[in-house]
Amino acid sequence: MVRLKGNENSWGLIAKIFHWTIALLLFWQVGTGISLHNMEFSPLKIGIIGSHKIFGTIIFTLIVLRLLWRFYNNHPKYESLPQKHKIISSLVHAILYILVVIIPVQGTYMTWLGGSDVSMFGLIEIPSFVEMDFILYQKYLKIHYYSAIILTSVFTLHILAALYHKFVIKDKYGVWKRMVSRQEKV
Ligand code: HEM
Ligand code: HEM
Repeated sequence: MVRLKGNENSWGLIAKIFHWTIALLLFWQVGTGISLHNMEFSPLKIGIIGSHKIFGTIIFTLIVLRLLWRFYNNHPKYESLPQKHKIISSLVHAILYILVVIIPVQGTYMTWLGGSDVSMFGLIEIPSFVEMDFILYQKYLKIHYYSAIILTSVFTLHILAALYHKFVIKDKYGVWKRMVSRQEKV
């Protein structure tokens, strides 16, 4: 049976759609970001920056909606997991959420410092309250880059942990199944 909401055994379809959509968008975002880091200034780079800004605002909106959904709905309570796993996975999830909220906000502020505009989904321009400052822009660009590297390291750790649950300990706590399976226990 397909359950939209979560319960003690599953995150539910809505949380799963959020999880997998944001994961895919983040792979794309980090990929375009790292390419930008290694590119000389060119019309292609300007084009990629444009799409990077649009995807960044989409990721930000989705992560806020996902957090709201998580707080106002049931989800698995990790009861079967050993205490150590529980603490580490909650910490890793919290760091992921914090970074995925902070990086787009910081990226928006940085873009304004560089004198460019930011539109929600490329459609609605967000009014800037920041004076252009190219020296500060260069500093913020470094912060933007290193926070994206930290995010990539943390989600790599998260993916390795998920694979460990699935393939090494054969999902004995059901952690893989409750985020991946399409079948739900009611
Ligand atoms: C989770 C979301 C995001 C990630 C992981 C991310 C990651 C990155 C990375 C790794 C770079 C390369 C930095 C460099 O060139 O050293 C970059 C560049 C950039 N990002 Fe983001 N970014 C995100 C969201 C945003 C948002 C929301 C905006 C603004 C709306 C934004 C604006 C930019 C701009 C303008 C550049 C190019 C800067 C330049 O090369 O001059 N980013 N991003
Ligand atoms: C191939 C990539 C990925 C796999 C295989 C994967 C796997 C999983 C699994 C199995 C869970 C359930 C954990 C549990 O119930 O304790 C989970 C939860 C979670 N994952 Fe991933 N994940 C991936 C990518 C990502 C990425 C890129 C992010 C970055 C934001 C992320 C953020 C989270 C968060 C925050 C949770 C907690 C559940 C929630 O609040 O929705 N995951 N993931």
